[in-house]
Amino acid sequence: MSSIETTTVELVVNGKRYKRQIEPRLLLADFLRHEIGLKGTHIGCAHGVCGACTVQIDDKTARSCLHFAIDVQNSEIKTVESLATPEKLHPIQQAFHESHALQCGFCTPGILMTTEEFLRGNPNPDDDEIRKALCNNMCRCTGYVNIVKAVGLAATSMSAAENE
Ligand code: FES
Ligand code: FES
Repeated sequence: MSSIETTTVELVVNGKRYKRQIEPRLLLADFLRHEIGLKGTHIGCAHGVCGACTVQIDDKTARSCLHFAIDVQNSEIKTVESLATPEKLHPIQQAFHESHALQCGFCTPGILMTTEEFLRGNPNPDDDEIRKALCNNMCRCTGYVNIVKAVGLAATSMSAAENE
């Protein structure tokens, strides 16, 4: 019987370094969920289509189901768990809460991570720009109207906080 080949990888996730012995084919999404217990990253299609698994690799949104963990060892990974502190939701999360922008919540982590990068580059977007930014993140509950509203509210509250 042949044994499964494993290799040692080290990944920096949300500012913390993790060292694990894994199969080389392990996807980043599975590494996050099953090796280090960050279950906020969801897996929907596992084919790069739905956006549920969206994380940030070096501050750019990326599908974690399309990357091998072994390939991102020299990058900084951020997951939805990086957004809030124990005391406080991130302003984007607060805006989603206030706008009732989630139903089952399955798509939400990916949308939050996409929104975070989007608002860094465009702090005052209009609704069309928001819809375009989120066009690769599917919501099976189809709550898009409130999601767009929440991103607009997040932009407003983040800009106001910066100008204080
Ligand atoms: S699970 Fe990765 S894009 Fe759907
Ligand atoms: S809130 Fe259910 S999939 Fe978006």
